[in-house]
Amino acid sequence: MSLMRVKPLDLILATAEKRSLKRQLGAFSLTMLGIGAIIGTGIFVLTAVAAQKAGPGMMYSFIIAGAVCALTALVYAEIAAMVPVAGSAYTYSYAVLGELIAWMVGWALILEYAVAGGAVAVGWSGYTNGFLANHGLGLPGFLTAGPFYTETLPDKTQAVHLVDGVTHIGGFNLIAFVLALLVTLLLVLGTSKSAKFTAALVLVKITALIAFIALAFPVVNHANFNPFLPNGWGTPLSGTGVLGAAASIFFAYVGFDAVSTASEETTNPNRNIPIGLIGSLAVCTVFYLLVSYTAVGAVGAQPNGALSESKEPLAFVLRQIGWSKVGDAVAAAAMIALPSVVLMMIFGQTRILFTMARDGLLPKGLAKVHPKYHTPHVVTWTTGIFVAFFAALFPVDVLADISNAGTLFAFFAVALGVMVLRETAPDRKRPFRTPFVWVVGPLAMAGCVLLFFSLGWNPTIKFFCIWAVIGLVIYFTFSRRTSALAPGNAELGADALEPTPLIHEGPEPGP
Ligand code: ALA
Repeated sequence: MSLMRVKPLDLILATAEKRSLKRQLGAFSLTMLGIGAIIGTGIFVLTAVAAQKAGPGMMYSFIIAGAVCALTALVYAEIAAMVPVAGSAYTYSYAVLGELIAWMVGWALILEYAVAGGAVAVGWSGYTNGFLANHGLGLPGFLTAGPFYTETLPDKTQAVHLVDGVTHIGGFNLIAFVLALLVTLLLVLGTSKSAKFTAALVLVKITALIAFIALAFPVVNHANFNPFLPNGWGTPLSGTGVLGAAASIFFAYVGFDAVSTASEETTNPNRNIPIGLIGSLAVCTVFYLLVSYTAVGAVGAQPNGALSESKEPLAFVLRQIGWSKVGDAVAAAAMIALPSVVLMMIFGQTRILFTMARDGLLPKGLAKVHPKYHTPHVVTWTTGIFVAFFAALFPVDVLADISNAGTLFAFFAVALGVMVLRETAPDRKRPFRTPFVWVVGPLAMAGCVLLFFSLGWNPTIKFFCIWAVIGLVIYFTFSRRTSALAPGNAELGADALEPTPLIHEGPEPGP
């Protein structure tokens, strides 16, 4: 049994062909799908975290994280168009880098999707708790954040723990927990989002960002940019400074790869997937750079300043500059739109785990499809319950950083895989070719390494290392033997029922 055994590309493509999900998504729908998955907690919430780490220099952080994602999107587009099947980075790695790496990538993608789902749910709870409190319906403090939330909130009377000398206000983030479970229920019931509904939500988010930029831009005050780099560039593993903030705000860009999870439902995937991947990222990057510039310029962004401590930073900025009602509207937009990002994340996670179970690397029972709803209900509930507890217990910045560690690992593997394929299968049809791949590919990998090591050692990288060791133990004690590619095992579940897709062109409204 070789650790390098690969699932041949042609077999992957043939299996996908057999499945025949209806191909109905075009370039526009895909771009909307990408923007829908990208704009979320990152820009609406983590802007405050970036300000805390980098001060006004967070503008550089947005540029650096955007550049790493742009490089990755260029290589991602090549392989996603070549192998337009579900499973994203996991599937690509299986075809190119061998089973062990594929397993590790799939294992890391659990961080990317499930932990990110938790992070977005926590981000949403910040806006929702703010909304409830503004209307006299606020929950008790210990139900608004998890026990590992370490910031000191103004109302110290609600402190429930005192650990390491830090006032811990939280106990259980009820709203984030409930949201994760509700979204899971919707997915189990087979709620699919119509492409039109996805586009409407994108419109809500973009309108909110445009309003923010338009109102904050005129009051940009250049004095607010000083000192520009209060925490410097940051040192490796410190998780602070411009690079530490870039590693965190990277979260805001993640999600463009969700486009590739819809590969099997895309018309003319070879053309439309690169458009969807690169187009959605480009649109979001422009908005993010403008939002970070105007936020810093309008109210300042010094560490420990008011912006960096806000749980709803964009609404906060607008309220500070005298546009309270618009601030409330932006908060409402976040409340309306963020649940769909949680939905995308949990959906992406279930499809990856489903594919891994079907490949025999996870217990086959996870790949069971509900006879009535045609959804992979076992894997969906399993994922949803984990996401709900992550969301209930951990603060948003910790979850986002851990998710980023997993994503950076997966993106690194994709860039490597694309270059390996150029060597091993130079003649295979490439509908989209990464321009200057021998420059773009290594730069993408270097960018992933840079951001990875700019994350903090404690808890992020430490957690990632423990996670990786657990993954290796599971692989060597279980998955290696049960793999469909292990000698004597048939291709498992190839003919099993397929789950229904998430996005469709039909008219009915989604969640
Ligand atoms: N990019 C997504 C967000 O910011 C994950 O919420």
